[in-house]
Amino acid sequence: MSDILSHTESGVLTLTLHRPDRKNSINAAMYTVLADLLEGAASDPAIRVLVVQGSETVFSAGNDIGEFIESPPLDQEAPVFRFMRCLAAFPKPLIAAVCGPAVGIGATMLLHCDLVYAGDNAAFSMPFVNLGLCPEAGSSLLATRMFGHHRAAEALLLGEPFMAEAALEVGLVNRVVPPSEASTVAAMQARKLAQKPLSAMVETKRLMKLEFAQALPQRLVEEGEAFARLVQAPAAREAFAAFAEKRRPDFTGL
Ligand code: COA
Repeated sequence: MSDILSHTESGVLTLTLHRPDRKNSINAAMYTVLADLLEGAASDPAIRVLVVQGSETVFSAGNDIGEFIESPPLDQEAPVFRFMRCLAAFPKPLIAAVCGPAVGIGATMLLHCDLVYAGDNAAFSMPFVNLGLCPEAGSSLLATRMFGHHRAAEALLLGEPFMAEAALEVGLVNRVVPPSEASTVAAMQARKLAQKPLSAMVETKRLMKLEFAQALPQRLVEEGEAFARLVQAPAAREAFAAFAEKRRPDFTGL
């Protein structure tokens, strides 16, 4: 079975992250599938709304850490960076249903969604610094704008997990519901949107995001270059080794 399930019904394309043995962490092959599906959905007039979801217990553990070691993203052509560009440019309404851990790109992709419904078990974290890395997916711009600098610094510098209610408070999610209802609520909102005129929704989303139209692509490049430097550096190597060895990293002197 594929790690990305896709299903189209009544103008709604639903993408489900499905790699349960790896907590829905995302590898290069999955980024490529996701980017292809986003590109296809953007230009397909039959698709009006896109929903992304995980399971009731985990949304995504973020980038596959094994791949950070074996095939780190070193330039803008890396599948992860292509996925981020497709996500940032996606012109139609994008809805997420999030339960359980949403780590790294599992959290930052939500900054690009228009509506986010979270189970009360959702735990968001952006632990880039803890891994010797820096923010990605435009989160240095979007989280700072959405949360305010100080709360973004808690998320991006301290990298500590925050729960659904805190995410509601900073504006990252629209509503907190029981985990068993998150995908139902997202699907219900998607069906409502799918009945509205597409051109009006696309123009509305474009106008809402106009202030980022230039800044976001530039920030993606800037973050990607910094990320590519850091992902090969000693601090990240130590963090990835510590994860694999199930121990705390030792950043002494790094
Ligand atoms: N990449 C690769 N494998 C991962 C992974 C990731 N991002 N996240 C989890 N896994 C693997 C674990 O290594 C483990 O494998 P094992 O069964 O062979 O030991 C398996 O998935 C289950 O993970 P586990 O940590 O035991 O689950 P948990 O429920 O205790 O914790 C998380 C879930 C998501 C909180 C935890 O796995 C985690 O913090 N993952 C790393 C997140 C991260 O730092 N991502 C990168 C962000 S840039």
